[in-house]
Amino acid sequence: SEIKKIAVIAGDGIGPEVVAEAEKVLKRTEELFGYRFETEHALFGGVAIDEKGTPLPEETLEICKKSDAVLLGAVGGPKWDSNSADLRPETGLLGIRKALGLFSNLRPAVVFDCLKDASTLKPEVLEGTDLMVVRELTGGIYFGEKFRRDTEFGQEAVDTCAYNETEIERIVRQAFEIAQKRRKKLASVDKANVLESSRLWREVVIRIAPDYPDVELEHVLVDNCAMQLLRRPSSFDVIVTENMFGDILSDEAAMLTGSIGMLSSASMGEGSFGLYEPVHGSAPDIAGQNVANPIATILSLALMFRLTFGYADAADAIEAAVAEVLDAGHRTGDIAVDKSQAISTTAMGELIVAAIKK
Ligand code: NAD
Ligand code: IPM
Ligand code: MN
Repeated sequence: SEIKKIAVIAGDGIGPEVVAEAEKVLKRTEELFGYRFETEHALFGGVAIDEKGTPLPEETLEICKKSDAVLLGAVGGPKWDSNSADLRPETGLLGIRKALGLFSNLRPAVVFDCLKDASTLKPEVLEGTDLMVVRELTGGIYFGEKFRRDTEFGQEAVDTCAYNETEIERIVRQAFEIAQKRRKKLASVDKANVLESSRLWREVVIRIAPDYPDVELEHVLVDNCAMQLLRRPSSFDVIVTENMFGDILSDEAAMLTGSIGMLSSASMGEGSFGLYEPVHGSAPDIAGQNVANPIATILSLALMFRLTFGYADAADAIEAAVAEVLDAGHRTGDIAVDKSQAISTTAMGELIVAAIKK
């Protein structure tokens, strides 16, 4: 088969640790299924600031642009936290999403039956939870004008939240289409009772909804949604929302699955190109200890196979291997009920690799 190019940007903290395990899975899938991949590693985030003086070197962006997909670990850490915005790892992350046109961030939260005891919520509440947060990724308050000014009350800091109809329509249409392939339910989450950008958001959703008559639509205010996610998680199918609401709600949804270490994501534009990364960050508190859960990154790789390459057999095999290893009771510390039984990042990676079957 034709060789697929994958840019690998491991980043900071636990980024390189979890990406290394996903790369083992990649290699095993290559052997078993006969697909061919060429990986190219590139500097990104804090390590790129240290070595190149910028979180997103031009060369890294070029490598991503000539690839079919990007596998990303995580960026950030205390070392760079007091830097100015242009020298922050997180600025590189926003920059790469924008530069690659990745306006749609898909964050599936699926509760594995055997992990119901790992969540802080009651098992009967979690039963059957399988939802997808569709987060707008290149607009809103993250990308609006920001500045500081002096006032008579001291310095004032301003962040603006702007959305235009085109930005809203393209993400909402994607969400409707995803819902059509799932359980045909869409919750559009906004703060239309207060924010003008949310009122436009809701107007656009209402305008295009008739194009998807088979999808049951509900509008949910974001504060209520945060609450309903814990009260009735299994009633949600697809949730579509703006950038910052999606950031917050997806971390909340992570706890339904037991740990943020379980949540994968795909960042997409209009085509098949995608950037795949765990939802979690660089976890400086556990970095370098070989204890991080690599499953979010491994499941992100499965999403890459499914969404960018159309290798559904390999994606299914990876997801089945993860389920098998969890069913057998293997746990990293974040999902272990008995922490003394927790296994390492590398042990988890190797168990999953060994469980992949054609
Ligand atoms: P975080 O997601 O890094 O960590 C939150 C908590 O979850 C920590 O206790 C951490 O140990 C735990 N955790 C996260 N991933 C885990 C995993 N795979 N296995 C086990 N436990 C895991 O969020 P934070 O602490 O708020 O942020 C740390 C840094 O990461 C910051 O610099 C932040 O900006 C950055 N960040 C980056 C990304 C990204 O690169 N996509 C995402 C979120 C945060
Ligand atoms: C995420 C992260 C990023 C975001 C940060 C690190 C910029 O929290 O990917 O969820 O807010 O988008
Ligand atoms: Mn986040």
